[in-house]
Amino acid sequence: MKVLVVGGGGREHAIIRKLKENKTIENLYCAPGNGGISFDAECVDIKATNVDKMVAFAKESGIDFAVVAPDDPLVLGMADAMEEAGIPAFGPSKLAARIEGSKVFSKNLMKKYGIPTAKYEVFSNTEDAIRYIEAENTFPTVIKADGLALGKGVIIAQSLDEAKNAVHSIMEDKIFGASGNEIVVEEFLTGPEVSVLAFTDSKTVVPMVSSMDHKRALDGDKGLNTGGMGTIAPNPCYTEAHAQEAMEQIFLPTIRAMVAEGCPFKGCLYFGLMITPNGIKVIEYNCRFGDPETQVVLPLLKTDLFTIFQAVRNETLSDLKIEWADGAAACVVMASGGYPQKYETGCAIEGLDENGQSPLATVYHAGTKISDGKIVTSGGRVLGVTATAATLQEALECSYKAVETIHFEKAHYRKDIGAKAL
Ligand code: AMP
Ligand code: GLY
Repeated sequence: MKVLVVGGGGREHAIIRKLKENKTIENLYCAPGNGGISFDAECVDIKATNVDKMVAFAKESGIDFAVVAPDDPLVLGMADAMEEAGIPAFGPSKLAARIEGSKVFSKNLMKKYGIPTAKYEVFSNTEDAIRYIEAENTFPTVIKADGLALGKGVIIAQSLDEAKNAVHSIMEDKIFGASGNEIVVEEFLTGPEVSVLAFTDSKTVVPMVSSMDHKRALDGDKGLNTGGMGTIAPNPCYTEAHAQEAMEQIFLPTIRAMVAEGCPFKGCLYFGLMITPNGIKVIEYNCRFGDPETQVVLPLLKTDLFTIFQAVRNETLSDLKIEWADGAAACVVMASGGYPQKYETGCAIEGLDENGQSPLATVYHAGTKISDGKIVTSGGRVLGVTATAATLQEALECSYKAVETIHFEKAHYRKDIGAKAL
């Protein structure tokens, strides 16, 4: 089999290393991939968002199965385009990807089908939005751009002034471009956050091991929001009772709602949940594997990942028994100094072997490239240093021990990943 994974970050590296365990896969491609991924798959220099070029490459190269991992190509309809070209694909259709691509779509879906989420209203003009915020007069309040905004489209406003500024900058200054043509204004919820990724073929939904992301750049959950500075799995805040409540109130109702709306969801559905004093609520859906959640979830998967991908695509997920290892996983992200704002690239990375790995942990490459035979930084998030062990404490110790042996100029990482879970 020839398999293509679309994307080029730590998440894709984790997917590829798992797919490598399947012996029926002879050729593994990644587009565009990155420096570290090139040790595990053949990287193809095509942008993840170039749907036409990607499909043409897949056809020419006789790809038997495509995995579309990132949100933007999914929202652009790459999974549909692959299928239309006769290439079986893992990933939701363009219509189903709206569950992430449009917050207005996902909030209205939850309202219509009674799926617990923060109370909200949708606005397409500034005056109405501000009038509503003034009338509600409850702070903090949450303001979200409708469309994709690289994970930055959410502003938590602490006061009326901040809220007004947020509405103006999203809707008039268009800081998130056309994503801000409409906004959602919603109630601020409190409680621990849990990420649950789930395989679903639109009939059956199989949640994976739960995880905890660390979105802020600095220790103690301070600093700017990032794509994620580290993860642990499982998430100890999420009990068996929570899992049951989420299945009944959220997971099953969501996949049924998508079928009822005529856009069955097939792929990995990411539930961003908050355990509030009034029960579990959905903060957001993503139409894909989380990054860096995947880096801690897939190492605990015992069942063959490619078999699962095929079952999801063929709608035979109910025939599979998906098994997980006991124990825990921890991923510490090493980022370029300055991320998520301005940072340098091209810094040489020391402490990795000739395959970009460490003897102490698995290194998922997020932003690296090979330059003159050396591994150098090429992005904000550079490496996800990951370990699994019998306990979370041991997994964290292993990851941090490995992190201490890896160096590049101005490397930055959080020292408290998983600390609140111990
Ligand atoms: P999102 O991009 O939707 O994941 O939002 C980014 C982060 O903003 C989430 O991980 C939460 O920490 C926070 N957030 C989003 N919506 C709310 C809400 N309604 N109440 C409290 N925090 C929220
Ligand atoms: N780690 C959050 C996300 O993938 O959106």
